[in-house]
Amino acid sequence: MTTIFDEAINRIEKRECVVAVMGLGYVGLPLALAFVDVGFHVVGIDTNEARVTSLNAGKSHVSDVSDNRVAAARTNRDARMASSLSTAGASNVQGQSQGTRVGYLEATSDFSALKKTDVVIVCVPTPLNKTKDPDMSAVIAAADGIAEHLHSGMLVILESTTYPGTTEEVVLPRLERMEYDGHAMKAGDDFFLAFSPERIDPGRKDFTVANTPKVIGGVTPQCLAVARALYSKAIEKTVTVSSSKAAEMVKLLENTFRAVNIGLVNEVAIMCDRLGIDVWEVVEAAKTKPFGFMPFYPGPGLGGHCIPIDPHYLAWKLQTLDYDARFIRLAAEINFEMPRYVVSRVARMLNTARKAVNGSKVLVLGVAYKADVGDIRESPSLDVITLLKEQGADVQYNDPHVPMFQTEALEMQSVELSESLLKEVDCVVITTAHRAYDWAWVIEHSQLILDTRNVAAGVSGASDRVFKL
Ligand SMILES: NC(=O)c1ccc[n+]([C@@H]2O[C@H](COP(=O)([O-])OP(=O)(O)OC[C@H]3O[C@@H](n4cnc5c(N)ncnc54)[C@H](O)[C@@H]3O)[C@@H](O)[C@H]2O)c1
Repeated sequence: MTTIFDEAINRIEKRECVVAVMGLGYVGLPLALAFVDVGFHVVGIDTNEARVTSLNAGKSHVSDVSDNRVAAARTNRDARMASSLSTAGASNVQGQSQGTRVGYLEATSDFSALKKTDVVIVCVPTPLNKTKDPDMSAVIAAADGIAEHLHSGMLVILESTTYPGTTEEVVLPRLERMEYDGHAMKAGDDFFLAFSPERIDPGRKDFTVANTPKVIGGVTPQCLAVARALYSKAIEKTVTVSSSKAAEMVKLLENTFRAVNIGLVNEVAIMCDRLGIDVWEVVEAAKTKPFGFMPFYPGPGLGGHCIPIDPHYLAWKLQTLDYDARFIRLAAEINFEMPRYVVSRVARMLNTARKAVNGSKVLVLGVAYKADVGDIRESPSLDVITLLKEQGADVQYNDPHVPMFQTEALEMQSVELSESLLKEVDCVVITTAHRAYDWAWVIEHSQLILDTRNVAAGVSGASDRVFKL
């Protein structure tokens, strides 16, 4: 007799199952396309109707995903088969060569589309609320939406970064509350539930969804097996752990590791400044050790949607268990103070020219949180700008990836970068090392420069007008 489990595996193996991806942002859209690339019909579900409309018109809102890629995925299955469109992306994934199926993407805001999908992968946001506690509202809304349409054999996977226990404590009870054929549905028997963290690094070209190993933890062994069967179709390597809780913790270890090491090197930068030592020189030399050391670099603070936020999810969970996550707290304190430290360094630099921050013209180069992306979420540059303005500086910014931005505190437009502007401002603060900048030219024409990213290291004869973090 074929069981619900056998049936679920069979449909995946034959790529007959329809995959829903809930939340089509930086994480969800590339993931949806990775499944399209290997022949799945993917339904993208997003509450943002403008996003849905533009995706259905073949337009991408994610910088790493081209319009062409979305438009090709939108082309309907028959047309794609007729034109024998090749399956790009993963080259080494299980069974890819046998398949003749071609995938396609359709987007919708209607959760009832879940009635006809066999799989749903949740990639909704997990931000912090005003008191820096986890804001689980999108995960809860997604789980409730899935529960309403949960059906026999459905595979549900949470990919949003969250605290250990979320899948079992928040998602599972909402699903097991549902009845099917007169009985309450049970994970592992009637449906399958797993957690698999997303590890995408926006802007990165060498590691994509398809070739980054995928960690998976199931609520039961059957849940794990079905989830693994699915990911093996689109992703070269899967790594299984014993529970969804362990998989949730893997992601938080990875991001806490980064936050803590960045906090450490930021504090080393402050110590080196006190000691009159160049921190960049120290890190470069330390990294020649072939074992036991991994370089991290100082900067103006932490940014992006993940590293400044995710460790708080872990600390919050531990707080509920009466444990104070001290490393996380200390790293956050140091990283959070970095913009203030940068501004103190601007003041010290201006002082060398007998100028005050108050009334000085300051040009900030780069508001994106990291090089070559246009994402300003949690960007420390925004704090640097706010603090400079608070001290009376006349602040402008340039960023080739961010023509304008609006936050609660700031609304600004990128100014055109010119020789005359560089000469006119009292100082330049380099906060993001975008490759589009010609650093030699910037340095040549500026009066004073605070270089928080060590870009001047690559410029021969960088002068004593450049101050390093
Ligand atoms: N961006 C990254 O680099 C990255 C990397 C790894 C993990 N993550 C994690 O992945 C998750 C998603 O992050 P992101 O950067 O893709 O976020 P995002 O803001 O770019 O995209 C989230 C999408 O979800 C939609 N959405 C919100 N609530 C919804 C709901 N209830 N139902 C359906 N759609 C909904 C939003 O409209 C948006 O389009 C987060 O948990 C994040 O921490 C992000």
